[in-house]
Amino acid sequence: MTLLDRLRDAVGDTQVLVGDLVTGYDRDWTGRLHGHPLAVVRPGSTAEVVAILRACADAGVPIVPQGGNTGLVGAASPSDGEVVLATGRLAEVGAPDPVGGTIVAGAGATLETVRLAAAAAGLEVGIDLASRGTATIGGVVATNAGGARVLRHGTTRAQVLGLEAVLADGSVVSRLAGLPKDNTGYDLAQLLVGSEGTLGVITKVVLRVTPAPPARAAALVALDGTDAAVRLLVALRSGVDGLDAVEFVTAEGVDLVVARGLARLQFAGVAPVYVLAEAVGSSAASIADALATAVEPVEGVLDAAVATTGRERAGLWALREGHTEALAALTPVKLDVAVPVPALPAFVAALPSAVTAAAPGSRPISFGHLAEGNVHVNVVGVPPGREERVTDAVLELVAARGGSISAEHGVGRAKRAWLHLGRSAADISAMRAVKKALDPGGMLSPGRVLPEE
Ligand code: MLT
Ligand code: ZN
Repeated sequence: MTLLDRLRDAVGDTQVLVGDLVTGYDRDWTGRLHGHPLAVVRPGSTAEVVAILRACADAGVPIVPQGGNTGLVGAASPSDGEVVLATGRLAEVGAPDPVGGTIVAGAGATLETVRLAAAAAGLEVGIDLASRGTATIGGVVATNAGGARVLRHGTTRAQVLGLEAVLADGSVVSRLAGLPKDNTGYDLAQLLVGSEGTLGVITKVVLRVTPAPPARAAALVALDGTDAAVRLLVALRSGVDGLDAVEFVTAEGVDLVVARGLARLQFAGVAPVYVLAEAVGSSAASIADALATAVEPVEGVLDAAVATTGRERAGLWALREGHTEALAALTPVKLDVAVPVPALPAFVAALPSAVTAAAPGSRPISFGHLAEGNVHVNVVGVPPGREERVTDAVLELVAARGGSISAEHGVGRAKRAWLHLGRSAADISAMRAVKKALDPGGMLSPGRVLPEE
């Protein structure tokens, strides 16, 4: 029996896609990383995932799990000859448990579906990202996604109370009780969080849910530079309870978003930097007061607009969340990094000369999650063949400032050659040992995360 026959036996003929039907599954969101998969297989149950893994192991064909395919480092897009295990049919979402404070979701459920299921019961999931409508829970957990709400909730890791996953040998590990206390040996569930498909195929997740706050308000603040943005962050942290997000964008990115009709800007003049801050509390009016009071004395504030209704807030968030789409048209080299917040202004200021030296004619457009020092450096105008030099230049700057070469998008295929800038030789060899123990045949997402030996 051929591998394709075994896969068809496992999931049914219509759930094994080959030829032109693999279009869309065969490349990452940026279009930069792609390959020709042998097939795309869409299991409908954990048992079918097991059967797929066993069939591929017998045939010696590697597998790459793929959720919504919104990742930006090529972890979930196939290399030539791999089987894509697309999780979209594992989309069941259970009713939230308000007593335990949990919700169980299939790996293929979108983040938005899970958020809405929680919201219908007056609860919230502490993970939110611009790609919520497409990104799946399995992918979000496999990348330990960050997003815009890390300030109050922590990263995805902190929301994961358990999961079910199929390991490379077809065995199923399961921590679905959702217990807040469970110190029974190694924490395999947390080991799989952020493993980017290299240690197991996540099939179900138990997420923490908390009571939804009664009200929200946001402010968009125009500033004369990144130093002022850091001063504002300090003022917000000390003056505003329930701070939920502090994001930043710059004039160039805002221009692109507005020019593409993705959002409007509330201010007459264009400022170099804008900060979007949102907080939760008992009433939108009191939150808005607290935001305005914190913003007012900060040196370098040029203007501010406060949003108290859902519609007004959505308008401000569109300006921030439109960046990825607006920039995509310029096919940037996308580098997701973090530096300690006090180092952020000098880091952002050093970027233009660093990228121009690496690739004449290129320029950086930065935006991101100010509260975590997480900068999305999008370098546009990079001539073909200069991508690696640009990456080198930016990641060296990050490493020199004690930052992270991957703040929230992961390592995938795009950054594995630079892992040594963020992890010691001892760290990398311990990671290799874990990979070899759980996947000795290198069947799961080979060529991701770990550098060539
Ligand atoms: C964001 O914060 O909008 C995302 O991480 C996506 C991106 O970096 O483009
Ligand atoms: Zn981000």
